[in-house]
Amino acid sequence: MKSILLKTSIPGPRSSELARRRDSAVARGVYQSTPIFVRQTEGAVIVDVDGNRFIDLAGGIGCLNAGHRPEAVVDAIRRQAESYLHTCFMVTPYEPYVRLAEKLNELAPGPGLKKTVFFNSGAEAVENGVKIARAYTRRPAILCFEDAFHGRTMMALSLTSKTHPYKAGFGPFASEVYRAPLASCYCKNGTDFANVLEDIFARSVAAESIAAVIVEPVLGEGGFFAPPPEFFTTLQSLCRRNGILLIADEIQTGFARTGHMFASEHFGFEPDLLLTAKTLGGGLPLAAVTGKAEIMDHTPPGSLGGTFGGNPLACAAALATIEIIEREGLCDRARFLGERFRKRASNWAKRYCFITDVRGLGAMQAFEFTRDGDRDELASALTRFCLTNGVILLTAGTYSNVVRLLMPLVITDAEFEEAMEVVERGLAALETERAPDLVTSGRPSL
Ligand SMILES: Cc1ncc(COP(=O)(O)O)c(C=O)c1O
Repeated sequence: MKSILLKTSIPGPRSSELARRRDSAVARGVYQSTPIFVRQTEGAVIVDVDGNRFIDLAGGIGCLNAGHRPEAVVDAIRRQAESYLHTCFMVTPYEPYVRLAEKLNELAPGPGLKKTVFFNSGAEAVENGVKIARAYTRRPAILCFEDAFHGRTMMALSLTSKTHPYKAGFGPFASEVYRAPLASCYCKNGTDFANVLEDIFARSVAAESIAAVIVEPVLGEGGFFAPPPEFFTTLQSLCRRNGILLIADEIQTGFARTGHMFASEHFGFEPDLLLTAKTLGGGLPLAAVTGKAEIMDHTPPGSLGGTFGGNPLACAAALATIEIIEREGLCDRARFLGERFRKRASNWAKRYCFITDVRGLGAMQAFEFTRDGDRDELASALTRFCLTNGVILLTAGTYSNVVRLLMPLVITDAEFEEAMEVVERGLAALETERAPDLVTSGRPSL
């Protein structure tokens, strides 16, 4: 790997100046969880315009499982750019789109023939997954879960759970959206969950009106809850019995993050439609709906697509990214990193009474802070401490009291240990007299 050491003399505006310009030029609704402006990235490291180095445990919100700017991805983009950029697949198609569709059809969990269509963002994949499910089943309703995050476009936002800052003020939302409890169901067994679903069918929406259930196999923004194994067995059998399609939103969990190519594989979950984005594009915007051919082919030509969906550069980057994930064994790496984290974090939970849970799957790991009284701010206080000490971390959860890891899986052992030591120093600081300062200063959590 090339060295990220920079010529710090590169001229250009500093973070403070860029922050001022950002505040006057960019809409306030676009949140910024760190005040840094990027100059260069590589692997799991970001260097900002002021020359500061950060270990990146956020990965552009889980988009960089194969790392920042992997050489093979940059080369693939460069080669593609030398041939053609945009022609629109709906006008003059091209091979990388077809090859990537073939690859995703092969990788998607579950037996049978699959087909794929590409879009630009996770939210668009969600919108189209819902369209396809409704067209196929000729049913209106979609069942989603509490604490889910499916994106910011109107249907996706209707399916998203968290009110502030995502939903408040943006209604009215799409109709025929029903919501089941999820995190609480996880704590129970499969039989309890079956009762919860039967109750929803009786009280809120008839089973025969439901086109699909959309579910994140491990909750992302909602706080990294991983279900017990029987959850998906129950969900799958109830849906199959009632002709309800299953949509797995693997936008955050996909592409080796949890230790399998897709998190569904942990649970023997075979979704009818699989939604992917984030890491799929290796740093370029790309999303996909992959599903059973019979379902995918139900809508007529012209009913799916978009001007830029499956852009040639993004498809080339995606093919190179998947190749890296397979060649470099990033599923194994995710499991290794997850175990390494769990060992440390279980000690933190023993030592600090304000850590109430450590959870996750593979490298999709998080720890939760207690929410009582002035301790509500501890998660954001910790992320601020880490940022000041060169580590970028994100919070999660409906109450923003969870700290989550979404680092590039190519992070070196030394970088990971360095980052964990910073987190440990942050936790120690939270416990001491410095905690009140940490808790009250700085920006709000994400
Ligand atoms: C599970 C899940 N679904 C959908 C989305 C929306 O993706 P995008 O921001 O690309 O629209 C996200 C984004 O964080 C996500 O985590």
